[in-house]
This record gives sequence, C-alpha cells and structure tokens, in this order.
Amino acid sequence: MTTTASAHPHLLQNYARAPLTIVRGEGCEVIDDQGRRYLDFVAGIAVCSLGHAHPRITAAIAEQAATLVQCSNLYNHEPAGQLATALAERSGLARVFFCNSGAEANEAAIKLARKFAFRNGDTQRRTILTCSGSFHGRTMGALTATANPKYQEGFDPLPGGFRYTSFNDLTGLEADLTSDVAAFLIEPVQGESGIFAASREYLELARRLCDERGALLIFDEIQCGMGRLGSLFAFETVGVRPDAVTLAKALANGLPIGALLMNERCADALRPGDHGTTFGGSPVPCAAALAHLELRDEIDLDAHVRRTGDFLKQELTSIAATYPTHFGAPRGQGLMLGLPVAAPYLASDFVSTGFAHGLLLNAAGANTLRFVPALIITEEQISIGMARLRTVIEAIDKATG
Ligand SMILES: Cc1ncc(COP(=O)(O)O)c(C=O)c1O
Repeated sequence: MTTTASAHPHLLQNYARAPLTIVRGEGCEVIDDQGRRYLDFVAGIAVCSLGHAHPRITAAIAEQAATLVQCSNLYNHEPAGQLATALAERSGLARVFFCNSGAEANEAAIKLARKFAFRNGDTQRRTILTCSGSFHGRTMGALTATANPKYQEGFDPLPGGFRYTSFNDLTGLEADLTSDVAAFLIEPVQGESGIFAASREYLELARRLCDERGALLIFDEIQCGMGRLGSLFAFETVGVRPDAVTLAKALANGLPIGALLMNERCADALRPGDHGTTFGGSPVPCAAALAHLELRDEIDLDAHVRRTGDFLKQELTSIAATYPTHFGAPRGQGLMLGLPVAAPYLASDFVSTGFAHGLLLNAAGANTLRFVPALIITEEQISIGMARLRTVIEAIDKATG
C-alpha cells in the first residue's frame, strides 16, 4: 500500500484517510496506484449508485462539458430545467432548488422553513427540530441540526433556533413538536450514526403533528434517497409524504450536486434574492443527474436493489450467525445496511484488514460496518465480497490469536 494521499504535506489533515491511493473506478470496483483491485462496498459513501465510470454518465458529462459548463443562475439553461422537471414528475413535489452538497441542501431547507413561517406572519415560529443521533452536514446550520456532540464540539457558539428530540420516541415527539417549530427535519434512515430506521409509526406521528401544529415535515434523504432503499425516494418506501426533501450524494452519480424539493404549500416562500449559490445546478452535474435518472428507469433499478439488498442482508445474517462473538444482527433495508460489531472488535479493524483482501468497507456510528455499494452490484459480486469478508474475519482472529 502507498501512503501518498494520507501523508501529503499540503492537504489539510481533517480526514483520517486510509493509506490507499485510488486511481480508477470501474463499475463496482476501484483500482489503486499499484494496480490492485478492490470490490467497493462504499461507492464514494453512497454516491456512485450506477457504479464508477458508467459510460452513459461519462458521455453525458463529456457532452455537456463540451457544450456549456457554467452560465450562473442569472440565466436559464436546459439541464437544470430538465432535471427539475424530472425530479418534480417523479416525486410529485412542485419546485426544486439546486446547490452543490448535502449540507447546502439542508441549509436551504432550514431557510425555507423559516421564510415560510415568516411569510405566513408566524414570526415566533423559528425552531428547527431534529433527532438525536442525526447527521445533516457540517456547515454551521447543518452542524447545529446534527444532534450529535461528537461533530459539534469546539464550534461554539452554534446558531440559535434548533432543538432536539429523541429519535423514534413517540411521546417525546408529542412533547417537543410545539407551536414554535418551523420544521421537523429527519433522516428516514439515519446513516452516519450506524443505519437506524425511523419507525413507520414515528414518521406517521410526525406527519400528523406537523399538520396539526403548522410545521413543515422535511426528510433528509441525502443518504437514504436516490434508490438506496429500493425506491427512488425514501418517502415512497416509508409511506409518509414530507413537505420537502433534501437530496445530494447519488443524485449526479459522483458529481457535486444537492437539491431541495418542496411541495406546492411552501413553493412560494423563497423568492428572488432570498437564497442562491453561484455553482448550484450547474449544467454538467445536472446533465449527469439526468442521465442517472434515465438509466435507472431503463434498468428497473428499484427491483434490482430490493432483490440484491435482501440477498446482502441474508449473507450478513449468515456471517453474524457464524461469528456471533463478532457481530450482531444486520440492520437496514435495500442497499443501505449496517452490521453491528461487538466489542472488543472494532469496525475499523475490518475496514483496514479489508484492504489486503481486495475489499473496501466503511465504518459508521459507534461501531457498525456500513454497506452502501453501487446499486448495480450483482449477487455474484456480493457473494465474492462476503467470501472476502469471511477471510478478513479469519485473518483478524489469526492475528489477535
Ligand atoms: C443524511 C445526510 N445528510 C447530510 C449530509 C451532508 O452531505 P455533504 O457531505 O454532501 O455536505 C450527509 C453526508 O454524509 C448525510 O448522510
């Protein structure tokens, strides 16, 4: 293994980068600078859903790059309009704002909620309510929405107007979703904290309370959306419709883009001058996202994700049964799965040992292995990956005696 990226003297050392330099991606595999191939169960952290370097996405990017890369949001351009239409048609949500990342999409959602209340003359309604264990990004607003001290420590003073409620606690939500709440922002499936799904009952209660008490219900689908649960939008799988949805990660299959989709009810809240970004919804990422949407429909990706997700979960269940001292029962659905690691083992042990066995894994939350491969992964590739994982487990046991 080489150490080029992690040891680079001029890169800010704000990431705990693995000593691995990746130079190429092909479908569900990446190749390092030594020519070694890795089966990739990370996919850019739930980003490259159609795999690395998909020829159709590459062609769409190249064509758009040769046509128009940027013209600012002072003017119209076709790719943003077409993508907004494609997302609106598929979601039933009326309007779309584009930005460049997940954190920015959540910042836009926070501003939408506050301005919506303001325009309704509801000026005391400022609070953004979020859940314990959530992750919404690292810009100051999104960081404050992220109800996890691990990410917030040392960044005081955080912006005001945020409150937290205990995830999946029905009684807590009844008490906390009060008349000052502008929006309840929730991940239908928490990703960074280790793959924890909100219960159907909890989301239904959230919908009812938001309606009764005048708040917006906003789903952060940045990680669990875009097909990861086996439907384009997570809200289709969980069966509860939010007023707004944030997307990013997989939307353009690897190019930076974020989006805030909103229903008719709040579509008029943000007006010219209220919000914006230079790069948001630039032609190239929009063209990539359009190609992604077209392609996923053609190959019936949702059915594939449901099938392969069930298969991967069975395989993980079988691994947990073989090694009950190492793992608990897997959590999650579709191709967003978490395998809890039991002490004294650490998820990071499996990640680092995986490199020597051609396997890219990822640790999330307290001690969970997170599986978010490309959505096009086949059962055969999953079987190969799981065989490698068994080898990794044996190698760790051998090394620790
Ligand atoms: C649910 C969720 N929201 C927001 C974000 C932040 O997205 P970004 O890293 O693009 O700012 C992430 C990133 O992991 C996420 O998983």
